[in-house]
Amino acid sequence: MRFAFVGGKAGPWRVLSVTAVRGASLTPVTHLDLYPVAAGKLSPCGEWQLEGLISNLRYATRSEVANLKAAQEGLGRPAARRAALIPIKKSREWWSLAQDERRAIFEETSHHTAIGLTYLPAVARQLYHSRDIGQPFDFLTWFEYPPEHAEAFEDLVARLRATEEWAYVEREVDLRLERR
Ligand code: HEM
Repeated sequence: MRFAFVGGKAGPWRVLSVTAVRGASLTPVTHLDLYPVAAGKLSPCGEWQLEGLISNLRYATRSEVANLKAAQEGLGRPAARRAALIPIKKSREWWSLAQDERRAIFEETSHHTAIGLTYLPAVARQLYHSRDIGQPFDFLTWFEYPPEHAEAFEDLVARLRATEEWAYVEREVDLRLERR
């Protein structure tokens, strides 16, 4: 399923901040909308539009998948009034590695899933893949959490950014959002 995040003047999510973590930023906007892209349907106008697909897992092992399923909660919880959209592009060096080398950096060295799991179920997440559909970012990462977990979410992001995996991130923009 293909989705579009549209940054502009309308949408259920109010933009609290837009930060260029690495590389070029996105034009600051006040609102964000998310909708499924229907074939042939014209996109609503906005300052920018980023698209991604919900796809299969690449790196997670069977036991990691079981741990994630046991701990995670779904999107759209009424109490989860804060969100983050973090579009990420990884380097050519990352994509030139073999699958097993990427997995080793992702988990055995950087402990991405192990770290992330400790922030569940407060944070609900969805990963969108964009690289194979000619988008400016490789991934659109989306997170929803209750306001009282906002500090913990910043802690999670800081821990991941300190890992070896992030040495392969060449562009990253970080949006914080709120809905009423
Ligand atoms: C909330 C806790 C989190 C958990 C449990 C988690 C878990 C995961 C898992 C299991 C995958 C691999 C999916 C696969 O097998 O293909 C993944 C991928 C990814 N996550 Fe997270 N994650 C979390 C937070 C974050 C955060 C905060 C960011 C961004 C700052 C992030 C960025 C990414 C990216 C970019 C990928 C794709 C990596 C690639 O395929 O190269 N994750 N995450």
